[in-house]
Amino acid sequence: MTAVEFKGISKKFGNFYANEDITFAVKKNTVHCILGENGAGKTTLMKILFGIYRQDSGIVKIFDEEVNFSSPHDAIEKKIGMVHQHFMLIEDFTVLENIILGYEKSNGIKLDFKNTEIILNDLIAKYNLGLDLNKKVSEVSISGQQKTEILKLLYRKSEILIFDEPTAVLSPVEVKEFFKITDTFKADGKTIILITHKLNEVKEISDMVSVLRRGKLVYETDNDRKQLDIEKLSNAIVGEELSGSSVHLNKTDNENYERIVYLSLKNIHLKKKNVSVLNGLDLELIKGEILGICGVEGNGQNEIVDVISGLEKNYRGEYVSVSDRISLVPDDRLKKGMIREYSIGENVFLKKAKGRFITNKVLTGISEKIIEKYDVRVSDVDSSLGSLSGGNQQKAIFAREIELDNDILVFSHPTRGVDINATLFIHSKIVEQRNIGKAVLLISSDLDELISLSDRLSVLYNGSIVRTFGSGELKSFTEDKLLPEIDAKSNLSLYEEIGKLMIGMAE
Ligand SMILES: Nc1ncnc2c1ncn2[C@@H]1O[C@H](COP(=O)(O)OP(=O)(O)OP(=O)(O)O)[C@@H](O)[C@H]1O
Ligand SMILES: [Mg+2]
Repeated sequence: MTAVEFKGISKKFGNFYANEDITFAVKKNTVHCILGENGAGKTTLMKILFGIYRQDSGIVKIFDEEVNFSSPHDAIEKKIGMVHQHFMLIEDFTVLENIILGYEKSNGIKLDFKNTEIILNDLIAKYNLGLDLNKKVSEVSISGQQKTEILKLLYRKSEILIFDEPTAVLSPVEVKEFFKITDTFKADGKTIILITHKLNEVKEISDMVSVLRRGKLVYETDNDRKQLDIEKLSNAIVGEELSGSSVHLNKTDNENYERIVYLSLKNIHLKKKNVSVLNGLDLELIKGEILGICGVEGNGQNEIVDVISGLEKNYRGEYVSVSDRISLVPDDRLKKGMIREYSIGENVFLKKAKGRFITNKVLTGISEKIIEKYDVRVSDVDSSLGSLSGGNQQKAIFAREIELDNDILVFSHPTRGVDINATLFIHSKIVEQRNIGKAVLLISSDLDELISLSDRLSVLYNGSIVRTFGSGELKSFTEDKLLPEIDAKSNLSLYEEIGKLMIGMAE
């Protein structure tokens, strides 16, 4: 049975085709992955399915019935649910309030809070979501926020579930949990549409795959998991043979290297709401080195960034740096990284400005340069940053921070939501920055990325560094390990050791 059918779907923004004549079907009770480069049109197509955008031409059928949604309410009525690339929760509201409020409005039904709470708690137990309904969303972790969105769909009894890059913000353990949840959905007969850039995940859970490139459907697999050919998929995504990584690692030899300290944190203590979040943290950023930080989310990563960037001042301990001009790619690009309504050029200028005047022509010039140099895909050079696809926003912010030409660079999850080629490009840029003598701090939840790029890798646990690996220990890894088809776990012992340290099981 067909759950969703797209027939000749086209959607333009201005003169730019975000979707062009897309035709494919999603079978009921399958996991259907949608792949494609940043800006390929994946989110746009899903927003059409969910009633946020209306297609210019083509038809959508749900369970063989043609639909014409004029808003998400119509889609929700047809039992379609969507978890967006950027969550749509109100931070000051509790989990419970977030789930109930929109629903109550759309249905005009007065809700019995007590009864709803019971229903929701049953769902939390059944799907193992581990959520506290009465916590404010601002106090819930990213994966908890995602589970809140999932709970919302379950409460609305959605049968077709759209997930737009759900795993981009999750740690490997959380990804495993997420897949357990999708397994349960499948067992319940639900249909799952999932967007991801990670081919190993596609291999793990997809039944069928559709690949989009520059707005068009370019590749489909038939309903046979075993035939999934990762190489064919990655070639379809980029439209050519994947060139392989151009990252030349040559890790900086920490032992025989002249250490010029660009930034140091000594014995930093920080409390938030009476909880110690940094506990005697020591860290040095050295010129010409990439220092990687790994750890389970919430062990002090964000606080380190806040102290370094000057956002957090209420710490004890010593913080010295050679410059207060520090480039930062933040973990949450929407909240901290940009002004959505501004163009790329304006967002760059914001950080450089210092009271100077500038003409529109110059701003467009800055946008053009970044678009060209960093392959940012836009529908128009002067597009607002907020209208770019998720991955292209990330590329634009990364580009801005490099172009600022500061000596100290802090990257928090720099390749989050970024496609395969752009990931390789960003990696090569990070290494290039190191090679020209910058000091780089790299925070990531992707252990392969960290091990490949870092000259030193520190494990963060409970607000302090519990162990730092030097280049010698990390050297056995090559850039090949970044490619998904190669089993990156060949050096299991190092992974195991880091894994143990990350959960506080130091030997
Ligand atoms: N509201 C909009 N206004 C103008 N252009 C838009 C708008 N939404 C999307 N676009 C453009 O349409 C193209 C496709 O965007 P879309 O968000 O669908 O990409 P995507 O495949 O989801 O990419 P990513 O992997 O980066 O999330 C992009 O080039 C984007 O700039
Ligand atoms: Mg998208």
